[in-house]
Amino acid sequence: MRLVLAVSLDGRLAPPQGGAAHLGGPADRRVLEECLAWADACLVGAGTLRVHGSTCLIHGEDLLQQRRRQQRSCQPHLIVVSRQARLDGALPVFQQPLERWWLAPGQARVDRAPPWSRGVVPLPRWQALPKAMVQKGWRRLVVLGGAQLATTLAAHHLLHELHLTLCPQLLGGGRLWLQDGVSISPNLWRPVESRPLGGGEWLCRWRRQPECGPSPEHPP
Ligand SMILES: NC(=O)c1ccc[n+]([C@@H]2O[C@H](COP(=O)([O-])OP(=O)(O)OC[C@H]3O[C@@H](n4cnc5c(N)ncnc54)[C@H](OP(=O)(O)O)[C@@H]3O)[C@@H](O)[C@H]2O)c1
Repeated sequence: MRLVLAVSLDGRLAPPQGGAAHLGGPADRRVLEECLAWADACLVGAGTLRVHGSTCLIHGEDLLQQRRRQQRSCQPHLIVVSRQARLDGALPVFQQPLERWWLAPGQARVDRAPPWSRGVVPLPRWQALPKAMVQKGWRRLVVLGGAQLATTLAAHHLLHELHLTLCPQLLGGGRLWLQDGVSISPNLWRPVESRPLGGGEWLCRWRRQPECGPSPEHPP
């Protein structure tokens, strides 16, 4: 599971007052689309959708053709993480050309899927996430944020790759991409790539140490 975020130099993913930070330029956008082209499905927290209204789509014609050649849907499926699935039906995301699913963690009532979703994936325990995803045929997963979702996944050792674009801004405030109050193991990550994207941005990728267990997309 690959976490893909654009963050400020001080590790924020949004300005102090909240809302969209608009971090990341055209090269970061391309990197994001390449990740989407790789993915079977993307997880996004309901909070991010409430703020942004829509999700990122693949627009690059070469990437769309690549997916068609692979006989995959043009866009990866979107998995919306929410306890209640209470989202404004007028949000543009519900008009976007992709298949949407509701991932219902904890004790959420899941007797009825909301009209915007193809179905519900109940998740009583976060540790069951990899199995639940594989059962749906989703092996290559991208996590699009936000902080609450990223923090939960990191705390449960469910992330296998960190794919961060460092953007030359200092945002300050408290909107770190990892929240307080959870236990995260240090020293788990080894760098696999870092390169300039232009405009002062750097793409940095780290992979979790193999002794932490295989990921569904990289079986042993
Ligand atoms: N720079 C970037 O690349 C980037 C990317 C994404 C987001 N962002 C920014 O991040 C901010 C949003 O982040 P956020 O932390 O507030 O929101 P978030 O993680 O996107 O969403 C939080 C909501 O999602 C559901 N959720 C997420 N994790 C959950 C968990 N572990 N258990 C149960 N429900 C969970 C809950 O929905 P319900 O309330 O419906 O139960 C929760 O209220 C925005 O400002 C956005 O612009 C930046």
